[in-house]
Amino acid sequence: MKHEIATLLKGNHLNIEITVRGWVRTFRNNQFIALNDGSTNHNLQVVVDFNQLDESLLKRITTSACIAATGTLVQSQGKGQSVELVATSIDILGDSDAEKYPLQPKKHSLEFLRDIAHLRFRTNTFASINRLRNALIFGVHQFFQDQNFLNIHTPIISASDAEGAGEMFRVTTLDLDNLPKNEQGEINFNEDFFGRSANLTVSGQLEAELAAMAFTKVYTFGPTFRAENSNTARHLAEFWMIEPEVAFNDLKDNADLAEAMLKYVIRYAMEKHPDDIDFLDARLAEEEKQKPVNERAELGLKAKLQFVLDHQFERITYTEAIEILLQSPAYKKKKFKYEVSWGIDMQSEHERYLVEKHFKKPVIVTDYPKNIKAFYMRQNDFCEPGRETVAAMDILAPGIGEIIGGSQREERLEKLEQRMIEMHIPTKEMFWYLDTRRFGTCKHAGFGLGFERLVQFVTGMGNIRDVIPFPRTPKNCEF
Ligand code: 4AD
Ligand code: MG
Repeated sequence: MKHEIATLLKGNHLNIEITVRGWVRTFRNNQFIALNDGSTNHNLQVVVDFNQLDESLLKRITTSACIAATGTLVQSQGKGQSVELVATSIDILGDSDAEKYPLQPKKHSLEFLRDIAHLRFRTNTFASINRLRNALIFGVHQFFQDQNFLNIHTPIISASDAEGAGEMFRVTTLDLDNLPKNEQGEINFNEDFFGRSANLTVSGQLEAELAAMAFTKVYTFGPTFRAENSNTARHLAEFWMIEPEVAFNDLKDNADLAEAMLKYVIRYAMEKHPDDIDFLDARLAEEEKQKPVNERAELGLKAKLQFVLDHQFERITYTEAIEILLQSPAYKKKKFKYEVSWGIDMQSEHERYLVEKHFKKPVIVTDYPKNIKAFYMRQNDFCEPGRETVAAMDILAPGIGEIIGGSQREERLEKLEQRMIEMHIPTKEMFWYLDTRRFGTCKHAGFGLGFERLVQFVTGMGNIRDVIPFPRTPKNCEF
């Protein structure tokens, strides 16, 4: 039988012979091995009797070696652990040269660990992050499955630009050194693998909408790709997105669903891995101490998450948000780098002001100017001339900024078609999207949650590169 250290530490298998496997974190006094198998940050203390073990074997018990230890689990004599394994035999499964091992038993910077992402799973920080990431994945599915949503796999290779923003990675099998050209001298994609130009998807939304027009409640949870050249702590070129789409929902229903989902998954992760939350709470507190007092967050990680669970998200319109910004001391003292006026695409400094300074909690901003949002968003019926808006919503989270973007969709064929033409979205090629508006259209709404931004929020990690195992960012595709 194979035992996990997390289970053993709960004291469930006392006084029977068992075998544990894992990686050595430290080996003290030729006697105490701190063994970790990734099930928890707490190591199992394995006690060896050096008189009974070969000298040569003892030498091979090094930091990062993989071993199997057999013995009896007993109540611990020493301080710091409840149980320990008194080993009768040790097998070295995989040797490791501790001198050459890049992870020394000391503090390493997050930047350094990014360069050795293949090994950083073996640190407490990344172990906690990845266990929470796993819990959040499962929590998302649980939330939707409990409400009978259907999980739809939307395509990863796509010929359309779902966001109309043109930030796509091309997928091709054409020979880049010898591109086929047509008579006009343009690349002839007829000769490409799909007989047309294709890309990695930026969002599964459009296909999810098709499914919602049959199943009512669906969601996708898949990888998405953006070739935006943003070198920030919030952007990845490859990230995972959760996109529910619900027939008969309006913008308010959409916001209710998003708020309920966020609260559910946060609670789920906190309950599943309280030790990891505690560990990351302490890590963040330590990190905050390095900052000047006026830049420190008011709440620690755990307090912040609990606060979010206990309070309703603020809901305001874009127009109200701009009004708040214009009235703010920050604006009056010219603290904002970017201009503030009705019609701007709010910059992260504006979003952070609203969330962190003004409301001090997550904020749902709705009804954005039509001109800064995607073609599929529903055009609001009653607008001031020159101030046309769409039924969009962004959810802004403290320390993160935009965590969710969504909208009620334009279900009226003429309005949608007209908007697509205005925005140069090919209506002919996207006949299939328009068909849902031709054949039994209905009000519907959905949103996209950036999964890594959620993981950042729950773990308190400042850089998105640290919440996905192998980040893809401009000029970086290692591992
Ligand atoms: O706001 P976005 O672009 O919305 C959509 O893609 C819609 N089709 C979603 C929908 O309505 N079904 O992206 C949604 C979310 C953002 O709020 C953000 O959290 C995340 O995806 N996101 C990114 N996360 C990491 N790196 C990037 N480059 C991201 N771009 C967007
Ligand atoms: Mg957005």
